[in-house]
Amino acid sequence: MNKNIITAVLGVCCAVTAAGRTEAEIDSCVNDLLGRMTLAEKVGQLNQRSGFGYADEMVGLVRSGGVGSILNETDPETVNKLQRDAVEKSRLGIPLVFARDVVHGFKTIFPIPLGQAASFNPALVEEGARIAADEASSVGIRWTFSPMVDVSRDPRWGRIAESFGEDTYLSSVLGVAMVKGYQGDDLTKPNTMAACAKHFAGYGASESGRDYNTTWIPEIQLRETYLPPFKAASDAGAATFMCSFNDINGIPSSGNRHLLRDILRDEWGFDGMVVSDWGSLDQMIPHGFSRDRRHAAMQGVNAGVDMDMESYAYCAHLEDLVSKGEVSEAAVDSLVANVLRLKYRLGLFENPYVDIKTSKRFYADASLDAARRAVEESAILLKNNGALPIDNSKVRKIAVVGPMADARHDQVGTWVFDFEKERSVTPLDALKDMYGEKNIIYAPGLEYSRQNDTKGFAAAVKAAREADLVLCFGGEEAVLSGEAHCRVDLTLPGAQSALLRELKATGKPVVLVVQAGRSLALADDAALADATVFCFHGGTMTGPALANLLSGEVNFSGRCPVSFPRMSGQVPIYYNRKNTGRPAADMTLINDIPLEAGQTSTGCTSYYLDAGDGALFPFGYGLSYTTFAYSDPVISSSEIAPDGSLTVSCTVSNTGSREGSDVAQLYVRDHIGSLVRPVRELRGFEKVTLKPGESRVVTFTLRPDDLAFYNTPTTRVVEPGEFSVWISPDSQSGNPAKFNVVDQPSVAANN
Ligand code: NOJ
Repeated sequence: MNKNIITAVLGVCCAVTAAGRTEAEIDSCVNDLLGRMTLAEKVGQLNQRSGFGYADEMVGLVRSGGVGSILNETDPETVNKLQRDAVEKSRLGIPLVFARDVVHGFKTIFPIPLGQAASFNPALVEEGARIAADEASSVGIRWTFSPMVDVSRDPRWGRIAESFGEDTYLSSVLGVAMVKGYQGDDLTKPNTMAACAKHFAGYGASESGRDYNTTWIPEIQLRETYLPPFKAASDAGAATFMCSFNDINGIPSSGNRHLLRDILRDEWGFDGMVVSDWGSLDQMIPHGFSRDRRHAAMQGVNAGVDMDMESYAYCAHLEDLVSKGEVSEAAVDSLVANVLRLKYRLGLFENPYVDIKTSKRFYADASLDAARRAVEESAILLKNNGALPIDNSKVRKIAVVGPMADARHDQVGTWVFDFEKERSVTPLDALKDMYGEKNIIYAPGLEYSRQNDTKGFAAAVKAAREADLVLCFGGEEAVLSGEAHCRVDLTLPGAQSALLRELKATGKPVVLVVQAGRSLALADDAALADATVFCFHGGTMTGPALANLLSGEVNFSGRCPVSFPRMSGQVPIYYNRKNTGRPAADMTLINDIPLEAGQTSTGCTSYYLDAGDGALFPFGYGLSYTTFAYSDPVISSSEIAPDGSLTVSCTVSNTGSREGSDVAQLYVRDHIGSLVRPVRELRGFEKVTLKPGESRVVTFTLRPDDLAFYNTPTTRVVEPGEFSVWISPDSQSGNPAKFNVVDQPSVAANN
């Protein structure tokens, strides 16, 4: 069908024009179209189905206008055929929108989002999302279910891998960067994808880190900790939101009017589209919230879920609910309008098809280069007794050991439906390339991370004895994190710690390099190793990046996006905790307690007898091959007035002998509040690259808004009194400067 015929079918208002309709024009097109749709066609737009090729059932559904979006169809020819059926063979010619979970790359795989967070580099995150959008849109995917901006403080939860970690501010900044990367500056361009901020809301607080579990989050904490990254994504123009699986304070998100209407639409003014999670309307039945699927459909509409992903609830029951007057057609119309608006915003009415001539734009050199840089910036040097960088004057032979040294499948991490294993470059590949095959002795010791069978140990130990340095690549297989893949034991799985002990016993220097989908409890392993590197699953280019870092070609600059626990039982653990009335002091640890000691012998402060207090590696922490010094912060004024601001500066110096980058982190503390405030809160960061001996002044501006908090669910205040401010290389160190808030500044109520 040519463009003129499409124009005739859709009517004047929806005429095919150059992309870039104004929002007012889009609204009028949407209204025009709505006015010509049957109820069945409206319900069809609300129905999202998973693709199963060019099959009769799907074709029939598309031609009858019974489906608005298809997820998981990635063959561009099939995409075009189905789209042609929608545009040319359905009554109104409304295009489909094809969707997919493109979470950290489509073909060129970047580090898992938790790894990207370790870069503290929004530009890099944006670039990764841009590349993912270009690759995925080249097969017709114009909508990704990403970014996941669930604040995650519990590494037992497998989905922490998909998050930006424990901090609300960092998650907000990086979520916005991803939205921008996917959507670009013009969503109608065919190489963009609509972003989807998920999972709205509170999913990261799943009780005990078990996926899909209940959450109980007081409204104040919800607004302060869990909602800001979503608000930031909405403000940045994220085209869609996805509601979460969990119930929150007893109400599943898919039926949660308060979240989806009161907050998202009414307070924040979000005018995009809300999709359910997979089957989440239906899951309100086992939740114990819906009597049956019909009831769930009604609750979903009332709550404001625009599109039903794979629950079949809307398509099965909405027409009947409307005809019986249990749901109004106006309510259905408002959902359909949101779906149509998305399609207009994506330019799908003008540009519905994939250009097959330019499709499959995968693995460009520049994309692989960006993916490598992303790993280089996200790997964290946790400990170094001088074993790194590899000293070529001492190290001739390197033993490469461990189950993750050559794990083409596992190094890419979770949510990578489209990756091609043979494209992964492993550390073993890259080290052979860098040091010459004859200088690498490869003996994995364990074939995979969970293996308990130690039959490979002897060969690994022999390799270690013959080498000058042992690089032990451990961690987790990809499948041990991600959706529904939670763990309670956060130590290295299988016999990896035993392998490390045997390697250490050879007396050779041992470098432990961990690749995993979550922070792990590494106290014992890191104590054994001469150096420890942590790399969240890094994707396609993990190998070359790690080889560059280990050899010293590139310096480490990754910083912990989560607090690493000493022991599994410490989680959830996060730096911005409350102080308690008895902060940890005078800790007597378990082995120091005298026999038959009295009940109060340990000082009665807040810590664990076996793990002490605090993280093994705190949020924001990471080493480098150089050293940095921070001057004490200097503030422009000792007071901040309503609607005023103050600047905080400090001099960061490279005090070592090679170039390096550090992340200068701005933290604040409100000392006395009508509700107690956290011991520190991140309010800014800047990655600074310095040559040896070079110094730079970093300056941040603090405004009342940065000091505000909710003291009731609806009031956000800045309270007069004393504050501390730090600029430091992590969340635990540095000296603060003090200032006072002199009056009660007003701040935006709905942040
Ligand atoms: C379920 C997951 O929770 C969600 O994140 C994902 O986008 C959908 N499935 C679609 O695959």
